[in-house]
Amino acid sequence: MRAKSDGSVKNDRLAWLKGGEVFCSNPPLRAAARVWRLVLLGAPGVGKGTQAELLSQRLGACQLSTGDIFRTAKCLAQGERSPALEAAMHYMVAGELVPDDTVLGIVRERSRCLRCCGGFLLDGFPRTVAQAKALDHLLKAENVPLTAVLNYDLPIEQIVARLSGRRTCSKCKAVFHVTNMPPRVKDVCDHCGGALIQREDDRPESVRVRMEVYEKSTRPLIDFYQKRGLLVTIRAEGSPEEIYQRTRALALAQ
Ligand code: AP5
Repeated sequence: MRAKSDGSVKNDRLAWLKGGEVFCSNPPLRAAARVWRLVLLGAPGVGKGTQAELLSQRLGACQLSTGDIFRTAKCLAQGERSPALEAAMHYMVAGELVPDDTVLGIVRERSRCLRCCGGFLLDGFPRTVAQAKALDHLLKAENVPLTAVLNYDLPIEQIVARLSGRRTCSKCKAVFHVTNMPPRVKDVCDHCGGALIQREDDRPESVRVRMEVYEKSTRPLIDFYQKRGLLVTIRAEGSPEEIYQRTRALALAQ
């Protein structure tokens, strides 16, 4: 675990980000009093990653983002990426979904992260009904039920404003916003001093595709999880702390 400036700790998520035989440097050895297994749903840019970070610091569960796996793979030398990961990069930059088979293969390879006694926060997975059904099977086989599915909701104009102002650290991947969450020094990461960049898929043409793909492929998951009694819809307006408090009141109070 990596100590942060506010004294909290952050798991390095090595097992999730790298897969294969790579292990986290300091995984939890025994379960916390309450183990949370949550899925974060919502349109691109609604703030899932920001909430996952807060939830992770406070609940102890790891943020398991499929998008982060692809972005980590992007930093590998070309020969080090499998052909499936190589193809995934292209889908991602265009704003298209990576094919279900590729995503599911990657998640299955990392199923020990789903068994982890620290719980998990799935961010950006599942994203299609086929992925949600496969996750159901995987969790049943591991005997680890979901606690809840958090569905973050925000009007489209605010989503576009969040995406167009997002800046991401090229080194540690921390997320900022040019006006809502600016770094202390312009274009420099507060945490590691890395250069802040705009994600390739935050360009307007890719954002348009991502929104269409969300409506067509991911929105049906709201109904899927509502029918299973797991869905909690949370208004994603306000500051990250206000949204966290709303999440706590609606979904974490049980
Ligand atoms: P992924 O990385 O999952 O991206 P996404 O779902 O599009 O979500 P984002 O990371 O864009 O946004 P977010 O909701 O996390 O918002 P954030 O907290 O950063 O996926 C990327 C791509 O990978 C996909 O398009 C696809 O190609 C591929 N992929 C990944 N998983 C896949 C899967 N399962 N199947 C198929 N393909 C897959 O916030 C956004 C901005 O707003 C930031 O600047 C932040 O600082 C700011 N902000 C956050 N909260 C607030 C607030 N409360 N007030 C003001 N500003 C805020």
